[in-house]
Amino acid sequence: MYAKKSDEKGPCRGRSFDSVNSAYGEKQLNNEVTFSKIGENEDNRSISTGRPASSRKSVATIIFSLKNEVGGLVKALKLFQEKHVNLIHIESRKSKRRDSDFEIFVDCDSDHAQLKELTQLLRTHTDIVEITPSDNSTLPDDDLVNVPWFPKKISDLDLCVNRVLMYGSELDADHPGFKDNIYRKRRKYFADLAMSYKHGDPIHRIDFTTEEVRTWGVVYRELNKLYPSHACKEYLRNLPLLTKYCNYSEDNIPQLEDVSHFLKEHSGFIIRPVAGYLSPRDFLAGLAFRVFHCTQYVRHSSEPLYTPEPDTCHELLGHVPLLAEPSFAQFSQEIGLASLGASDDAVQKLATCYFFTVEFGLCKQDGRLKAYGAGLLSSISELKYALSGKPHILPFDPMVTCNQECLITTFQEVYFVSESFEEAKNKMREFAKSIRRPFTVHYNPYTQGVDVLKDTDSINSMVKDIRHELDIVEDALNRLTI
Ligand SMILES: [Fe+2]
Repeated sequence: MYAKKSDEKGPCRGRSFDSVNSAYGEKQLNNEVTFSKIGENEDNRSISTGRPASSRKSVATIIFSLKNEVGGLVKALKLFQEKHVNLIHIESRKSKRRDSDFEIFVDCDSDHAQLKELTQLLRTHTDIVEITPSDNSTLPDDDLVNVPWFPKKISDLDLCVNRVLMYGSELDADHPGFKDNIYRKRRKYFADLAMSYKHGDPIHRIDFTTEEVRTWGVVYRELNKLYPSHACKEYLRNLPLLTKYCNYSEDNIPQLEDVSHFLKEHSGFIIRPVAGYLSPRDFLAGLAFRVFHCTQYVRHSSEPLYTPEPDTCHELLGHVPLLAEPSFAQFSQEIGLASLGASDDAVQKLATCYFFTVEFGLCKQDGRLKAYGAGLLSSISELKYALSGKPHILPFDPMVTCNQECLITTFQEVYFVSESFEEAKNKMREFAKSIRRPFTVHYNPYTQGVDVLKDTDSINSMVKDIRHELDIVEDALNRLTI
Protein backbone atom coordinates (compact mmCIF):
# COMPACT_ATOMS: atom_id res chain seq x y z
CA MET A 1 0.00 0.00 0.00
CA TYR A 2 0.98 3.60 -0.23
CA ALA A 3 3.32 5.34 2.10
CA LYS A 4 1.47 8.28 3.56
CA LYS A 5 4.21 10.39 5.10
CA SER A 6 5.58 13.11 2.87
CA ASP A 7 9.16 12.39 3.91
CA GLU A 8 9.03 8.84 2.65
CA LYS A 9 10.58 8.09 -0.70
CA GLY A 10 9.55 5.23 -2.84
CA PRO A 11 9.29 4.12 -6.43
CA CYS A 12 5.94 5.79 -6.91
CA ARG A 13 7.09 9.27 -6.03
CA GLY A 14 8.74 11.80 -8.27
CA ARG A 15 5.91 13.00 -10.49
CA SER A 16 4.72 16.54 -10.09
CA PHE A 17 0.98 17.02 -10.05
CA ASP A 18 1.05 18.91 -13.35
CA SER A 19 2.12 15.77 -15.13
CA VAL A 20 -1.20 14.23 -14.19
CA ASN A 21 -3.07 16.52 -16.46
CA SER A 22 -0.89 18.50 -18.79
CA ALA A 23 -3.64 21.03 -19.40
CA TYR A 24 -3.13 22.35 -15.88
CA GLY A 25 0.45 23.22 -15.13
CA GLU A 26 1.74 24.78 -11.96
CA LYS A 27 1.39 28.28 -13.28
CA GLN A 28 -2.21 27.86 -14.23
CA LEU A 29 -2.95 26.20 -10.95
CA ASN A 30 -1.39 29.03 -9.03
CA ASN A 31 -3.50 31.47 -10.96
CA GLU A 32 -6.72 29.71 -10.25
CA VAL A 33 -6.22 28.47 -6.74
CA THR A 34 -4.61 30.58 -4.07
CA PHE A 35 -2.36 28.67 -1.70
CA SER A 36 -0.22 30.14 0.97
CA LYS A 37 3.44 30.22 0.01
CA ILE A 38 3.56 27.48 -2.53
CA GLY A 39 7.00 26.30 -3.51
CA GLU A 40 8.48 23.39 -5.33
CA ASN A 41 10.51 20.65 -3.76
CA GLU A 42 13.19 19.73 -6.33
CA ASP A 43 13.96 16.39 -4.74
CA ASN A 44 10.62 14.84 -5.30
CA ARG A 45 9.00 17.30 -7.68
CA SER A 46 6.26 18.03 -5.21
CA ILE A 47 4.69 21.30 -4.25
CA SER A 48 4.92 22.36 -0.67
CA THR A 49 4.04 25.35 1.43
CA GLY A 50 7.49 25.16 2.92
CA ARG A 51 6.10 25.48 6.41
CA PRO A 52 8.21 23.80 9.05
CA ALA A 53 6.89 20.48 10.17
CA SER A 54 6.72 21.64 13.77
CA SER A 55 4.12 24.26 12.92
CA ARG A 56 1.77 21.77 11.27
CA LYS A 57 -1.14 21.06 13.52
CA SER A 58 -3.97 18.66 12.78
CA VAL A 59 -2.39 17.59 9.54
CA ALA A 60 -4.62 15.31 7.55
CA THR A 61 -3.60 13.29 4.53
CA ILE A 62 -5.96 12.69 1.63
CA ILE A 63 -5.20 10.57 -1.39
CA PHE A 64 -7.59 10.75 -4.32
CA SER A 65 -7.67 9.86 -7.97
CA LEU A 66 -9.20 12.14 -10.57
CA LYS A 67 -12.20 11.30 -12.62
CA ASN A 68 -11.57 11.48 -16.32
CA GLU A 69 -12.69 15.05 -16.99
CA VAL A 70 -10.99 18.23 -18.16
CA GLY A 71 -10.03 20.48 -15.26
CA GLY A 72 -10.64 17.79 -12.69
CA LEU A 73 -7.60 18.63 -10.61
CA VAL A 74 -8.41 22.32 -10.44
CA LYS A 75 -11.98 21.61 -9.46
CA ALA A 76 -10.76 19.34 -6.71
CA LEU A 77 -8.22 21.81 -5.36
CA LYS A 78 -10.72 24.64 -5.42
CA LEU A 79 -12.72 22.73 -2.87
CA PHE A 80 -9.85 23.06 -0.41
CA GLN A 81 -9.92 26.81 -0.97
CA GLU A 82 -13.69 27.05 -0.58
CA LYS A 83 -13.51 25.20 2.72
CA HIS A 84 -10.53 27.32 3.88
CA VAL A 85 -8.41 24.24 4.22
CA ASN A 86 -4.74 25.10 3.96
CA LEU A 87 -2.67 22.85 1.70
CA ILE A 88 0.73 21.96 3.10
CA HIS A 89 1.98 19.48 0.60
CA ILE A 90 0.73 18.13 -2.70
CA GLU A 91 2.12 15.71 -5.20
CA SER A 92 1.02 13.17 -7.72
CA ARG A 93 2.17 9.63 -8.06
CA LYS A 94 1.52 6.65 -10.19
CA SER A 95 -1.35 4.53 -9.02
CA LYS A 96 -0.61 1.10 -7.70
CA ARG A 97 -4.14 0.11 -8.56
CA ARG A 98 -4.22 0.99 -12.23
CA ASP A 99 -0.98 1.35 -14.11
CA SER A 100 -2.21 4.13 -16.37
CA ASP A 101 -3.61 6.30 -13.55
CA PHE A 102 -2.13 8.81 -11.16
CA GLU A 103 -3.22 9.68 -7.70
CA ILE A 104 -3.05 13.01 -5.90
CA PHE A 105 -1.54 13.01 -2.44
CA VAL A 106 -2.36 16.01 -0.25
CA ASP A 107 -1.35 17.03 3.26
CA CYS A 108 -3.55 19.75 4.68
CA ASP A 109 -4.33 21.59 7.90
CA SER A 110 -7.85 20.87 8.99
CA ASP A 111 -9.99 20.16 11.96
CA HIS A 112 -12.39 17.23 12.11
CA ALA A 113 -15.43 19.16 10.90
CA GLN A 114 -13.58 20.78 8.00
CA LEU A 115 -12.17 17.46 6.93
CA LYS A 116 -15.58 15.84 7.01
CA GLU A 117 -17.14 18.58 4.86
CA LEU A 118 -14.22 18.61 2.47
CA THR A 119 -14.19 14.88 1.89
CA GLN A 120 -17.94 14.88 1.25
CA LEU A 121 -17.43 17.50 -1.46
CA LEU A 122 -14.34 15.78 -2.84
CA ARG A 123 -16.26 12.59 -3.38
CA THR A 124 -18.42 14.36 -5.97
CA HIS A 125 -15.37 15.18 -8.12
CA THR A 126 -12.84 12.51 -7.30
CA ASP A 127 -12.44 8.95 -6.17
CA ILE A 128 -11.04 9.14 -2.66
CA VAL A 129 -8.57 6.37 -2.03
CA GLU A 130 -7.60 7.11 1.52
CA ILE A 131 -8.10 9.67 4.30
CA THR A 132 -5.88 9.81 7.36
CA PRO A 133 -6.63 12.45 9.96
CA SER A 134 -3.55 12.92 12.11
CA ASP A 135 -5.37 14.03 15.20
CA ASN A 136 -7.29 11.42 17.07
CA SER A 137 -10.79 12.68 16.41
CA THR A 138 -13.12 11.08 18.85
CA LEU A 139 -16.76 11.14 19.74
CA PRO A 140 -17.72 13.39 22.62
CA ASP A 141 -18.10 11.37 25.81
CA ASP A 142 -21.65 12.68 26.09
CA ASP A 143 -22.55 10.58 23.06
CA LEU A 144 -21.50 7.41 24.86
CA VAL A 145 -23.02 8.04 28.28
CA ASN A 146 -26.44 6.62 27.43
CA VAL A 147 -25.19 3.58 25.55
CA PRO A 148 -26.42 0.39 27.23
CA TRP A 149 -23.67 -1.89 28.54
CA PHE A 150 -22.63 -4.64 26.17
CA PRO A 151 -19.97 -7.37 26.24
CA LYS A 152 -16.67 -6.35 24.65
CA LYS A 153 -15.06 -9.76 24.73
CA ILE A 154 -16.33 -13.30 24.57
CA SER A 155 -15.77 -14.03 28.27
CA ASP A 156 -18.01 -11.04 29.12
CA LEU A 157 -20.89 -13.32 28.12
CA ASP A 158 -20.41 -14.90 31.56
CA LEU A 159 -21.96 -11.70 32.91
CA CYS A 160 -25.12 -12.11 30.81
CA VAL A 161 -25.91 -15.75 31.31
CA ASN A 162 -27.31 -15.41 34.81
CA ARG A 163 -29.93 -12.98 33.59
CA VAL A 164 -32.21 -15.81 32.49
CA LEU A 165 -35.85 -14.83 32.23
CA MET A 166 -37.30 -18.31 32.76
CA TYR A 167 -35.52 -21.49 33.72
CA GLY A 168 -35.40 -24.74 35.53
CA SER A 169 -38.41 -25.96 37.42
CA GLU A 170 -40.29 -22.68 37.03
CA LEU A 171 -42.76 -24.04 34.49
CA ASP A 172 -46.02 -22.37 33.55
CA ALA A 173 -49.23 -24.09 34.59
CA ASP A 174 -50.01 -25.07 31.00
CA HIS A 175 -46.57 -26.63 30.43
CA PRO A 176 -46.83 -30.39 29.68
CA GLY A 177 -44.40 -31.10 32.53
CA PHE A 178 -45.97 -28.77 35.08
CA LYS A 179 -47.37 -31.56 37.28
CA ASP A 180 -44.43 -33.93 36.80
CA ASN A 181 -42.12 -33.50 39.78
CA ILE A 182 -39.49 -35.84 38.37
CA TYR A 183 -39.38 -33.77 35.17
CA ARG A 184 -39.16 -30.53 37.14
CA LYS A 185 -36.29 -31.90 39.19
CA ARG A 186 -34.52 -32.93 35.96
CA ARG A 187 -35.04 -29.46 34.55
CA LYS A 188 -33.45 -27.95 37.63
CA TYR A 189 -30.43 -30.21 37.12
CA PHE A 190 -29.98 -28.84 33.58
CA ALA A 191 -30.56 -25.29 34.76
CA ASP A 192 -27.90 -25.55 37.48
CA LEU A 193 -25.39 -26.94 35.01
CA ALA A 194 -25.94 -24.05 32.64
CA MET A 195 -25.89 -21.41 35.36
CA SER A 196 -22.51 -22.58 36.62
CA TYR A 197 -20.97 -22.69 33.13
CA LYS A 198 -18.11 -20.28 32.38
CA HIS A 199 -16.62 -19.41 29.03
CA GLY A 200 -13.91 -21.92 28.11
CA ASP A 201 -15.34 -24.76 30.21
CA PRO A 202 -16.09 -28.01 28.40
CA ILE A 203 -19.84 -28.48 28.09
CA HIS A 204 -21.03 -31.12 30.52
CA ARG A 205 -21.78 -34.46 28.83
CA ILE A 206 -25.28 -35.59 29.67
CA ASP A 207 -26.26 -39.15 30.42
CA PHE A 208 -29.70 -38.88 28.84
CA THR A 209 -32.42 -41.14 30.21
CA THR A 210 -34.14 -43.80 28.11
CA GLU A 211 -37.29 -41.66 28.17
CA GLU A 212 -35.43 -38.59 26.91
CA VAL A 213 -33.81 -40.55 24.09
CA ARG A 214 -37.19 -42.00 23.14
CA THR A 215 -38.72 -38.50 22.98
CA TRP A 216 -35.83 -37.25 20.86
CA GLY A 217 -36.21 -40.33 18.62
CA VAL A 218 -39.84 -39.53 17.82
CA VAL A 219 -38.99 -35.95 16.88
CA TYR A 220 -35.94 -37.03 14.86
CA ARG A 221 -37.81 -39.71 12.92
CA GLU A 222 -40.82 -37.59 12.02
CA LEU A 223 -38.81 -34.54 11.00
CA ASN A 224 -36.42 -36.57 8.86
CA LYS A 225 -39.39 -37.66 6.76
CA LEU A 226 -40.02 -34.02 5.84
CA TYR A 227 -36.51 -32.67 5.41
CA PRO A 228 -35.82 -33.92 1.86
CA SER A 229 -38.81 -32.00 0.49
CA HIS A 230 -39.00 -29.08 2.93
CA ALA A 231 -35.48 -28.14 4.10
CA CYS A 232 -33.10 -25.87 2.22
CA LYS A 233 -30.11 -27.42 0.46
CA GLU A 234 -27.62 -26.09 3.02
CA TYR A 235 -29.49 -27.94 5.74
CA LEU A 236 -29.56 -31.15 3.70
CA ARG A 237 -25.85 -30.84 3.03
CA ASN A 238 -24.88 -30.44 6.69
CA LEU A 239 -27.19 -32.92 8.40
CA PRO A 240 -25.30 -36.01 7.09
CA LEU A 241 -22.06 -34.45 8.36
CA LEU A 242 -23.58 -34.15 11.81
CA THR A 243 -24.60 -37.78 11.63
CA LYS A 244 -21.05 -38.71 10.75
CA TYR A 245 -19.13 -36.48 13.17
CA CYS A 246 -21.55 -35.83 16.05
CA ASN A 247 -23.48 -39.08 16.10
CA TYR A 248 -26.86 -37.66 15.17
CA SER A 249 -29.24 -40.61 15.05
CA GLU A 250 -32.71 -41.65 16.08
CA ASP A 251 -31.44 -43.47 19.18
CA ASN A 252 -28.80 -40.99 20.31
CA ILE A 253 -29.02 -37.40 21.47
CA PRO A 254 -25.84 -35.64 20.36
CA GLN A 255 -23.68 -34.00 23.02
CA LEU A 256 -23.43 -30.20 22.82
CA GLU A 257 -19.67 -30.40 23.40
CA ASP A 258 -19.19 -32.47 20.22
CA VAL A 259 -21.52 -30.22 18.27
CA SER A 260 -19.68 -27.12 19.47
CA HIS A 261 -16.36 -28.52 18.20
CA PHE A 262 -17.97 -29.38 14.87
CA LEU A 263 -19.39 -25.88 14.45
CA LYS A 264 -16.11 -24.27 15.43
CA GLU A 265 -14.37 -26.08 12.59
CA HIS A 266 -17.05 -25.29 10.02
CA SER A 267 -18.19 -21.74 10.74
CA GLY A 268 -16.41 -20.49 13.85
CA PHE A 269 -19.55 -20.69 15.99
CA ILE A 270 -19.44 -22.32 19.39
CA ILE A 271 -22.20 -23.39 21.72
CA ARG A 272 -22.82 -22.18 25.21
CA PRO A 273 -25.38 -23.95 27.42
CA VAL A 274 -28.17 -21.78 28.76
CA ALA A 275 -30.75 -22.43 31.45
CA GLY A 276 -33.71 -20.90 29.66
CA TYR A 277 -34.84 -17.78 27.86
CA LEU A 278 -32.39 -14.92 27.74
CA SER A 279 -33.48 -11.38 27.01
CA PRO A 280 -33.25 -10.48 23.30
CA ARG A 281 -30.33 -8.18 24.10
CA ASP A 282 -28.31 -10.88 25.85
CA PHE A 283 -29.14 -13.55 23.30
CA LEU A 284 -28.24 -11.39 20.30
CA ALA A 285 -25.02 -10.30 22.04
CA GLY A 286 -23.89 -13.93 21.98
CA LEU A 287 -24.31 -14.03 18.20
CA ALA A 288 -21.94 -11.07 17.88
CA PHE A 289 -19.17 -13.33 19.24
CA ARG A 290 -20.30 -16.36 17.24
CA VAL A 291 -21.68 -17.93 20.38
CA PHE A 292 -25.01 -19.69 20.21
CA HIS A 293 -26.85 -20.19 23.48
CA CYS A 294 -28.39 -23.67 23.56
CA THR A 295 -30.72 -25.38 25.96
CA GLN A 296 -29.72 -28.90 26.92
CA TYR A 297 -32.93 -30.32 28.38
CA VAL A 298 -35.46 -32.42 26.46
CA ARG A 299 -39.16 -31.54 26.10
CA HIS A 300 -41.70 -33.47 28.18
CA SER A 301 -42.30 -37.03 26.98
CA SER A 302 -46.10 -36.69 27.05
CA GLU A 303 -46.04 -34.48 23.96
CA PRO A 304 -42.95 -35.25 21.89
CA LEU A 305 -44.15 -33.23 18.92
CA TYR A 306 -44.90 -30.09 20.93
CA THR A 307 -42.88 -27.84 23.18
CA PRO A 308 -43.83 -24.39 24.43
CA GLU A 309 -40.16 -23.40 24.69
CA PRO A 310 -36.90 -24.21 22.93
CA ASP A 311 -35.40 -27.53 23.98
CA THR A 312 -32.35 -29.46 22.82
CA CYS A 313 -34.34 -31.09 19.98
CA HIS A 314 -35.09 -27.60 18.65
CA GLU A 315 -31.46 -26.51 18.98
CA LEU A 316 -29.85 -29.64 17.55
CA LEU A 317 -32.28 -30.26 14.69
CA GLY A 318 -33.43 -26.72 14.02
CA HIS A 319 -30.40 -24.49 14.51
CA VAL A 320 -27.19 -26.51 14.36
CA PRO A 321 -27.21 -27.68 10.69
CA LEU A 322 -27.56 -24.09 9.47
CA LEU A 323 -25.06 -22.66 11.97
CA ALA A 324 -22.47 -24.89 10.32
CA GLU A 325 -22.96 -22.92 7.09
CA PRO A 326 -20.44 -20.04 6.86
CA SER A 327 -22.78 -17.64 5.02
CA PHE A 328 -25.55 -18.26 7.55
CA ALA A 329 -23.11 -17.91 10.43
CA GLN A 330 -22.04 -14.53 9.05
CA PHE A 331 -25.67 -13.45 8.69
CA SER A 332 -26.37 -14.43 12.30
CA GLN A 333 -23.32 -12.57 13.55
CA GLU A 334 -24.33 -9.42 11.66
CA ILE A 335 -27.58 -9.29 13.62
CA GLY A 336 -25.66 -9.75 16.85
CA LEU A 337 -23.11 -7.05 16.10
CA ALA A 338 -25.86 -4.59 15.17
CA SER A 339 -27.45 -5.13 18.59
CA LEU A 340 -24.41 -4.21 20.72
CA GLY A 341 -25.05 -0.94 22.49
CA ALA A 342 -28.24 -0.32 20.50
CA SER A 343 -31.34 1.16 22.10
CA ASP A 344 -34.07 -1.09 23.49
CA ASP A 345 -36.27 -0.21 20.54
CA ALA A 346 -33.55 -1.10 18.03
CA VAL A 347 -32.78 -4.38 19.81
CA GLN A 348 -36.46 -5.28 19.65
CA LYS A 349 -36.51 -4.65 15.91
CA LEU A 350 -33.39 -6.75 15.41
CA ALA A 351 -34.87 -9.52 17.54
CA THR A 352 -37.98 -9.47 15.36
CA CYS A 353 -35.84 -9.75 12.23
CA TYR A 354 -33.99 -12.62 13.89
CA PHE A 355 -37.31 -14.29 14.68
CA PHE A 356 -38.57 -14.13 11.09
CA THR A 357 -35.28 -15.29 9.59
CA VAL A 358 -33.21 -17.52 11.86
CA GLU A 359 -36.34 -18.99 13.49
CA PHE A 360 -39.01 -18.84 10.79
CA GLY A 361 -37.22 -17.90 7.58
CA LEU A 362 -37.95 -19.26 4.12
CA CYS A 363 -35.79 -19.12 1.03
CA LYS A 364 -36.26 -19.82 -2.66
CA GLN A 365 -34.21 -22.58 -4.20
CA ASP A 366 -34.65 -23.88 -7.73
CA GLY A 367 -37.91 -21.97 -7.95
CA ARG A 368 -39.40 -23.58 -4.84
CA LEU A 369 -39.87 -22.37 -1.28
CA LYS A 370 -37.71 -24.10 1.31
CA ALA A 371 -37.34 -23.65 5.06
CA TYR A 372 -34.19 -22.53 6.80
CA GLY A 373 -35.68 -21.22 10.06
CA ALA A 374 -35.06 -23.40 13.12
CA GLY A 375 -38.59 -22.91 14.46
CA LEU A 376 -39.87 -24.52 11.26
CA LEU A 377 -37.22 -27.20 10.92
CA SER A 378 -37.96 -28.46 14.43
CA SER A 379 -41.77 -28.37 14.19
CA ILE A 380 -43.51 -30.95 12.02
CA SER A 381 -46.86 -29.17 11.91
CA GLU A 382 -45.55 -25.67 11.25
CA LEU A 383 -42.99 -26.90 8.70
CA LYS A 384 -45.83 -28.47 6.70
CA TYR A 385 -48.02 -25.40 7.12
CA ALA A 386 -45.38 -22.83 6.13
CA LEU A 387 -44.81 -24.59 2.80
CA SER A 388 -48.43 -25.56 2.16
CA GLY A 389 -49.20 -22.54 0.00
CA LYS A 390 -51.73 -21.31 2.55
CA PRO A 391 -49.82 -18.68 4.57
CA HIS A 392 -49.05 -15.17 3.48
CA ILE A 393 -45.47 -14.92 2.15
CA LEU A 394 -43.58 -11.63 1.83
CA PRO A 395 -40.06 -10.84 0.67
CA PHE A 396 -37.70 -10.32 3.59
CA ASP A 397 -37.25 -6.61 4.10
CA PRO A 398 -35.93 -5.66 7.55
CA MET A 399 -37.75 -2.32 7.46
CA VAL A 400 -41.06 -4.19 7.07
CA THR A 401 -40.19 -7.39 8.89
CA CYS A 402 -39.10 -5.57 12.06
CA ASN A 403 -42.68 -4.40 12.62
CA GLN A 404 -44.35 -7.79 12.17
CA GLU A 405 -45.88 -9.36 15.26
CA CYS A 406 -44.12 -12.52 16.48
CA LEU A 407 -46.59 -15.25 17.42
CA ILE A 408 -45.40 -17.77 19.99
CA THR A 409 -48.32 -20.12 20.59
CA THR A 410 -49.77 -20.27 17.05
CA PHE A 411 -48.40 -20.46 13.51
CA GLN A 412 -47.13 -17.19 12.08
CA GLU A 413 -49.51 -15.06 10.05
CA VAL A 414 -46.72 -14.12 7.66
CA TYR A 415 -43.45 -15.76 6.62
CA PHE A 416 -40.62 -13.88 4.96
CA VAL A 417 -38.64 -15.25 2.08
CA SER A 418 -35.05 -14.43 1.09
CA GLU A 419 -33.36 -15.25 -2.20
CA SER A 420 -30.22 -16.32 -0.34
CA PHE A 421 -28.40 -15.84 2.95
CA GLU A 422 -26.11 -13.46 1.14
CA GLU A 423 -29.06 -11.29 0.15
CA ALA A 424 -30.49 -11.45 3.68
CA LYS A 425 -27.11 -10.50 5.11
CA ASN A 426 -26.76 -7.49 2.82
CA LYS A 427 -30.24 -6.30 3.74
CA MET A 428 -29.51 -6.70 7.44
CA ARG A 429 -26.26 -4.80 7.00
CA GLU A 430 -28.09 -1.90 5.39
CA PHE A 431 -30.74 -2.01 8.09
CA ALA A 432 -28.06 -1.96 10.78
CA LYS A 433 -26.77 1.31 9.36
CA SER A 434 -30.16 2.89 10.07
CA ILE A 435 -29.86 2.06 13.77
CA ARG A 436 -28.79 5.11 15.72
CA ARG A 437 -25.59 4.31 17.58
CA PRO A 438 -22.70 6.73 18.12
CA PHE A 439 -20.09 4.18 17.05
CA THR A 440 -19.53 1.11 14.92
CA VAL A 441 -18.24 -2.20 16.18
CA HIS A 442 -15.93 -4.61 14.46
CA TYR A 443 -15.42 -8.21 15.53
CA ASN A 444 -11.80 -9.13 16.02
CA PRO A 445 -11.42 -12.87 15.45
CA TYR A 446 -7.90 -12.90 16.95
CA THR A 447 -9.03 -11.64 20.34
CA GLN A 448 -12.64 -12.82 20.05
CA GLY A 449 -13.61 -9.33 21.11
CA VAL A 450 -15.31 -6.38 19.52
CA ASP A 451 -13.36 -3.26 18.66
CA VAL A 452 -15.44 -0.14 19.22
CA LEU A 453 -14.72 2.20 16.33
CA LYS A 454 -15.39 5.58 17.87
CA ASP A 455 -12.22 7.53 17.13
CA THR A 456 -9.69 7.87 14.36
CA ASP A 457 -7.07 5.82 16.21
CA SER A 458 -9.32 2.78 16.33
CA ILE A 459 -10.37 3.32 12.71
CA ASN A 460 -6.76 3.68 11.57
CA SER A 461 -5.86 0.51 13.40
CA MET A 462 -8.55 -1.32 11.50
CA VAL A 463 -7.39 0.19 8.22
CA LYS A 464 -3.91 -1.20 8.89
CA ASP A 465 -5.38 -4.66 9.43
CA ILE A 466 -7.35 -4.40 6.20
CA ARG A 467 -4.23 -3.30 4.32
CA HIS A 468 -2.44 -6.35 5.61
CA GLU A 469 -5.29 -8.57 4.43
CA LEU A 470 -5.25 -6.86 1.02
CA ASP A 471 -1.51 -7.41 0.78
CA ILE A 472 -2.13 -11.11 1.23
CA VAL A 473 -4.80 -11.02 -1.51
CA GLU A 474 -2.47 -9.09 -3.81
CA ASP A 475 0.32 -11.56 -3.17
CA ALA A 476 -1.99 -14.47 -3.91
CA LEU A 477 -3.15 -12.85 -7.15
CA ASN A 478 0.43 -12.16 -8.20
CA ARG A 479 1.33 -15.78 -7.67
CA LEU A 480 -1.61 -16.85 -9.83
CA THR A 481 -0.41 -14.67 -12.68
CA ILE A 482 3.23 -15.80 -12.55
FE1 LIG B 1 -34.46 -21.10 18.37
